[in-house]
Amino acid sequence: MTDKNFKRPIRKAIFPVAGLGTRFLPATKAMPKEMLPINDRPLIQHVYEEARDAGIEEFIFVTGRQKEMLEEHFDHQPELMEILKARGKHDMVAKVQDCQMPEGKLFLTRQAQPLGLGHAIWCARRLIGDEPFAILLPDDLVLHEKGCLSQMIEAYNEHGGNVVAVKDVPREETNKYGILDIDGDDGKHVGIKGLVEKPKPEEAPSTLSIIGRYILQPEVFDHLKAFEKGAGNEIQLTDSMAKLIGDQPFSGLRFDGQHFDCGSRLGFISANVSYGLADKNIGNDVREMLKTQKV
Ligand code: UTP
Repeated sequence: MTDKNFKRPIRKAIFPVAGLGTRFLPATKAMPKEMLPINDRPLIQHVYEEARDAGIEEFIFVTGRQKEMLEEHFDHQPELMEILKARGKHDMVAKVQDCQMPEGKLFLTRQAQPLGLGHAIWCARRLIGDEPFAILLPDDLVLHEKGCLSQMIEAYNEHGGNVVAVKDVPREETNKYGILDIDGDDGKHVGIKGLVEKPKPEEAPSTLSIIGRYILQPEVFDHLKAFEKGAGNEIQLTDSMAKLIGDQPFSGLRFDGQHFDCGSRLGFISANVSYGLADKNIGNDVREMLKTQKV
């Protein structure tokens, strides 16, 4: 069923977690990168909460080898709950409850080889079916009262079609990101007439990059199934998204909040400092600790 306005509700989200996390070796030799903690919870829980708070009802993990810990994290743990209750640790009971996924809401599919983000998304095609959906990359965190996906769903309800979260990057770094070719920009919403994955700085059509949050129409699977390889010899999501432009609305949202690329070591450390500072229980202590750090 196609809706001419491309505004059907967003009920499902894909979390691609099958990558190798090579930038964090040896930490990620046996442990999934997505289990690395930012403050008191792993990356995957931050993005799960963001999706849940945005109204997502079905959570689809694209996993791979050695990623079982991710599904375990969201399971019910009756023994642990009993011990916490017996010890009167009610704040911890609430915290553990917060990461228990409601039954029948978590869906798993496997990507046999990490052939690229586009391929990971294609692996979830049967679980998505014929409806628009969201994608959240656990590497990307946005610190703000209103989650990035909630902001994007508001933009989607207005503009419809496909919506990506975007931010400005220094021109010399365009070769690390998916970059927009812009068609109109009101400072918040950006029209998109093209997308290029990791262009050289001198060839980049703008300095606006996509971060790991997407709302896409299911027609993207018609293009993903071609398995075309792009930048880095990987099956890129950006290349298939670019093919929707012209047929469907496609826009970018300059989101509110501070973005962290937790897939890089510097971004990861920076996120831990900022989330620690923003924590109502330990924020002041973190601030004091930073003042006394010797460099
Ligand atoms: P990255 O390319 O940043 O993750 O993909 P990576 O490959 O695990 O990390 P490095 O570069 O080797 O350090 C972003 C997200 O997409 C997932 C990753 O798990 C990560 O959450 N991904 C990436 C897949 O699920 N499959 C892939 O083939 C590639």
